Amino acid sequence: MAIEIEQQGGCVVGLSRIAVSDTHGEDSPYFAGWKAYDENPYDELTNPCGVIQMGLAENQVSFDLVEQYLEEKPSETTSGFRENALFQDYHGLLSFRKAMASFMEEIRGGRAKFNPERIVITAGATAANELLTFILADPGDALLVPTPYYPGFDRDLRWRTGVNIVPIHCTSSNNFEITPQSLHQAYDEARLKNIKVRGILITNPSNPLGATIKRKTLEQILDFATLKNIHLISDEIYSGSSFSPEEFVSVSEILEARNYKDSERVHIVYSLSKDLGLPGFRVGTIYSYNDKVVTTARRMSSFTLISSQTQQLLADMLSDKGFTEKYIRVNRERLRKRYRMIVDGLDKAGIKCLNGNAGLFCWMNLSTILDQQTKEKELELWELILHEVRVNISPGSSCHCSEPGWFRVCFANMSEQTLEVALSRIHDFMGRRKKIHN
Ligand SMILES: Cc1ncc(COP(=O)(O)O)c(C=O)c1O
Repeated sequence: MAIEIEQQGGCVVGLSRIAVSDTHGEDSPYFAGWKAYDENPYDELTNPCGVIQMGLAENQVSFDLVEQYLEEKPSETTSGFRENALFQDYHGLLSFRKAMASFMEEIRGGRAKFNPERIVITAGATAANELLTFILADPGDALLVPTPYYPGFDRDLRWRTGVNIVPIHCTSSNNFEITPQSLHQAYDEARLKNIKVRGILITNPSNPLGATIKRKTLEQILDFATLKNIHLISDEIYSGSSFSPEEFVSVSEILEARNYKDSERVHIVYSLSKDLGLPGFRVGTIYSYNDKVVTTARRMSSFTLISSQTQQLLADMLSDKGFTEKYIRVNRERLRKRYRMIVDGLDKAGIKCLNGNAGLFCWMNLSTILDQQTKEKELELWELILHEVRVNISPGSSCHCSEPGWFRVCFANMSEQTLEVALSRIHDFMGRRKKIHN
């Protein structure tokens, strides 16, 4: 969460171009909503009229399993104090990379193989995405990113790298799926502006849609990257959150099926922030099929390492098959249950969502209650919901969705009781609107 300290009056000492640029994107309603929550956070007992945070994709539904593991198997981090205190090799602990590779395989149902030597450790997916952008593109170049996308990408891919994001516009007409036409359109748009396209970045599963990308679409995206000789980054940080694991296809599976042909353009980003619900641990990885990218990323990862104590703790946890098998299964069941709870609850309030099968949120359609189909009206509705209903959700425009009226609604960062309170507030709001409009 950002802490803003604004200097009174103008600042007379100059700062760098990056420091004063606003490409960080933190002035979006996505972050403003977080601030509104922080100022008046809901609490069942102490602040029952506060704002409920549904704009934060955190996974708290399986914390008890991690806590139980930690109680039963205290880590060896204290006994290995000296080694941990001194270890600072940017390759990371081999035991950690092995455990991470095996966890990534397990999440994909064993359908893909990962080599620990290709794992580069980073402080979360945030650092991984920025680091890859630094390696694959020069300032002024572009990455194509399908919309709607995670608002943090504006900061992670653009701010310090000077790289542009060119949107691949996806619409509700085909459930926001990426098509060859939309890929060509975005590419041609960049070329018309004389911008060099260096790659495509997809989130699979679960950009704000809460859905997996189909195998055929993934194949088309990879074929397109090959045709244009550009990179493909697949941000798969929600891969363990697909409620129907068989519906999630990793780009690693496509590569394996193709005998790793053209694999040197493919890079996977993964982190434990969503699947294990540990964003505070800052544990991410780049898995690249390109030797040069692996070497460069490793060198650059000096800026963004994970503490060896954390690596050691997670090496122990992730190599405990009893724990990982149970965690992955139970976490999926709980997320699926939550998803049904929110989608059915919204349905009762007369609100439809896109059919989802993954992630920590649903993609809710409120276009039917917009006075006009514009971004301005969408933001007006967002403000109204934030202040009258006291629920913070993320407007589609903050995710660069080109169609007004869609909102991302998170459901896994709260208890079931709080979710029920949020649903009942939304239900009442919709009821009041119906009365006014009838
Ligand atoms: C698609 C996507 N990528 C990256 C991130 C950042 O994850 P991390 O906490 O691992 O930096 C997020 C977090 O919300 C995300 O949704």
